[in-house]
Amino acid sequence: MREESRLSAATTDETVRASAAKAAAALLMERCSLLAKVTERRGEILRTFLSPAMDEVHRTMQPWMEAAGMVVTVDRAGNLRGVYGTERGEGAARLLIGSHLDTVPNAGAYDGVLGVLMGLALLEAGAGGKFPFAVEVLGFSDEEGTRFGAPFLGSRAVVDELEGSLLECVDGDGVSVARALRDFAVRRTDLTEATLAASSAAYLEFHIEQGPVLESRNLALGIVEGLAGQSRCSVEFRGVAGHAGTNPMRLRKDALAGAAEWMTGVETIARRFENAVATVGQISAEPGGVNVIPGMVKCSLDLRHAEDAMRAALVQAVFDEAQAVAARRGLGVRAAQYHEHAAVRFDEKVVGMAERASRRAGYSTMRMTGGAGHDAMVIAPHVPSAMVFLRNPGGISHHPDESVAEEDVAAAIHAGLCFLDEFGAHVREKENAKHG
Ligand code: HGY
Ligand code: MN
Ligand code: MN
Repeated sequence: MREESRLSAATTDETVRASAAKAAAALLMERCSLLAKVTERRGEILRTFLSPAMDEVHRTMQPWMEAAGMVVTVDRAGNLRGVYGTERGEGAARLLIGSHLDTVPNAGAYDGVLGVLMGLALLEAGAGGKFPFAVEVLGFSDEEGTRFGAPFLGSRAVVDELEGSLLECVDGDGVSVARALRDFAVRRTDLTEATLAASSAAYLEFHIEQGPVLESRNLALGIVEGLAGQSRCSVEFRGVAGHAGTNPMRLRKDALAGAAEWMTGVETIARRFENAVATVGQISAEPGGVNVIPGMVKCSLDLRHAEDAMRAALVQAVFDEAQAVAARRGLGVRAAQYHEHAAVRFDEKVVGMAERASRRAGYSTMRMTGGAGHDAMVIAPHVPSAMVFLRNPGGISHHPDESVAEEDVAAAIHAGLCFLDEFGAHVREKENAKHG
């Protein structure tokens, strides 16, 4: 029997897969807990682009990945990469499985890292499986944008989109992305190129849903067919700083009061745009004295919608509101969009494989469009992609109470093993068609 058929014969028994998935899920949960302790801020989970904490995650994961048969490297953008099946040669179709290893401040233990560990778990659970393709597990270095405000730095690098103004974004210490990359290359001398193999044939990302829908439908897994587009903006209000005790209310140009009026306007406007979301997550007031009228306020603004035209209209509406509030209050205002990513639809063939695989593993699913950003939205225009969401109790994420049930992780691993089969059949079909 051909090697591959041994895999299909050995693993047609879904109970064998289910028990392998159960054991692998327990190990994955342990690993998430262990990696949750790798942080750059005591008392919470925080890992940011090219930080020493990310180096430590690499050092921790590398032996696990090598033991699973991967050749492990870190690329110039700080992405952790493990390739399984290098013996198949450069030209072998390559399945990419990945997500991100960085976090938001005070994060949960599963956002991102679960998807990277899923790739490792599938290779361990399918151990010895000789697939007719290579697998690359990718741990992206920055999806959240916590350090520089601009997200997807790791995945943008591998699709050659880490360029231009993105490289000039600076962190809280005034260090630019370009400088951080240079410093990283000095610190880590064994870096490889941040590119994707030309034989990359599909990308699959497992991720907690970060929302309540799967739980409300009592489903373990969701098949993601697209992601909403997102805009990240900065809005500044400039007034006149002054003494809190001697300036009559009617003569003030209070930048923070203006920003507050604008923010409630943003909420009202976003509610008018069906299925839009708008969030001011960061605000700073200067000079920041308790007895000083704020003269300058800087706000972040995160806007999302599944349709790009609606998102563009929403951006314009909240910028117009900022101008109107500033005019009413005699304030200066500057509103700019510094990052956007268009909404994406995933590849129907890969989505279909994920859906069939989940069904073969015994799990009914639903199709979903995700509201959160994911590295898959950066990869999808370059490599046929799909995502699988895992039920996320309470929809809690970007929070230390973020959780996922071990049995849902086992469901995802079982479905993932069936996906490897589906993808193998797809590769063989293409090869047979090529050779006639
Ligand atoms: O912001 C997001 O949607 C993602 O969690 N980075
Ligand atoms: Mn996140
Ligand atoms: Mn994420």
